Amino acid sequence: MMDMTHPFKQQRQLFPTLGKTIHLSSCSQSAISAPVKEGVDAYLTSWNDEGMDWNGWMKKVSEAKAAFAHLINASPDEIAVLSSVSDAASSFAGSLDFSGQRNKVVTTEIDFPCIGHVWLSQEHRGAEVVFLTEQNHQIALDQYVEAIDGRTLVTSISHVSYYNGFIQDVKAISEIAHANGSLLFVDAYQSAGGVPIDVKEMGIDALASGAQKYLLGIPGIAFLYVKKELAETLEPKTTGWFSRVNPFAFDPKTLNYAEGTLRFDTGTPMMINAYAAHAGITLLNEIGVQTIRPYLMELSTVAIETAQRLGLEVASPLDVTRKGSNTAIRVQNATALEQFLKTKKIVVSARNDVLRVAPHFYNTAEEVERAIEEILHAIKHH
Ligand SMILES: Cc1ncc(COP(=O)(O)O)c(C=O)c1O
Repeated sequence: MMDMTHPFKQQRQLFPTLGKTIHLSSCSQSAISAPVKEGVDAYLTSWNDEGMDWNGWMKKVSEAKAAFAHLINASPDEIAVLSSVSDAASSFAGSLDFSGQRNKVVTTEIDFPCIGHVWLSQEHRGAEVVFLTEQNHQIALDQYVEAIDGRTLVTSISHVSYYNGFIQDVKAISEIAHANGSLLFVDAYQSAGGVPIDVKEMGIDALASGAQKYLLGIPGIAFLYVKKELAETLEPKTTGWFSRVNPFAFDPKTLNYAEGTLRFDTGTPMMINAYAAHAGITLLNEIGVQTIRPYLMELSTVAIETAQRLGLEVASPLDVTRKGSNTAIRVQNATALEQFLKTKKIVVSARNDVLRVAPHFYNTAEEVERAIEEILHAIKHH
């Protein structure tokens, strides 16, 4: 048993289900916390008691945007809300012009599949999509140097891999992209909340993340950051009344675009989801992702050492500075094992041929160790 103190013992008490369940699936769904539950309840209560609270509900959407903006060092008017990362990426892609000489999209095989789908959907508008090939579910910096050129309109990467947690050096990729005049789009769904993000310092032009994973919320809301100066040059094709300068002008014949990134908002936003997202992100901002990251690296060390001690194959980078929270363990029948472990009150997440052990700040080293021991047990006896 590893001897490690838990720096977030106090905040762990905000997650009552952890007393019953070992919850290690932040790469998919984080554990429910009291503030998030109270947020969702607050929406239901206001609906129940007031019948309708449009202003209060819209205010919560703005607060959720502001909390996400704070998390990534953007300003609140640089954030739009959509319903999923797929939607957010589609909206951004649809706003770009591929009709000129600069029509190339450089993306990777390690991105979540929806990102590839989104860029391929732009081929009929002139996009030429290049996929960098993975090796051990990793991409080398040199591959970006080779692929990005004066014809690249956008480079589209995942900050942290959904499969094995591999972290990319966003700043270095941004420098390569910008030296060639390419924009940089980052899918941060597997990093936001667990790995610090500073869009300004890292040189990110656009970024998307949903609330369900390390942001401690629920599905149904995703945040799209687009750098304000860039947003103002774009006219999103996915649009609606909240994309307008004044949504309440009720003028169907005027297609103007709201200031900055607000033009990427579309219809009535996902209000109940915003309550959950706001509560989750606020908790993270209070603790500070800068403080969470080193602890998650310690838990990665525990996961890797435990898996190796038990003779299990680790599909993640073994250098914890090169990976996020998720440690992927190669297994056969990953989905069946995930279901079986659930009956033992251990929540891990299957993808293809791996089980992902993905702790958050509220988890302990003992939980990580115990879950991996149970994975071995399940492999042998299931
Ligand atoms: C990195 C990453 N991007 C995108 C997605 C898909 O997000 P959504 O379902 O919100 O489109 C996932 C889901 O697992 C993911 O891990």
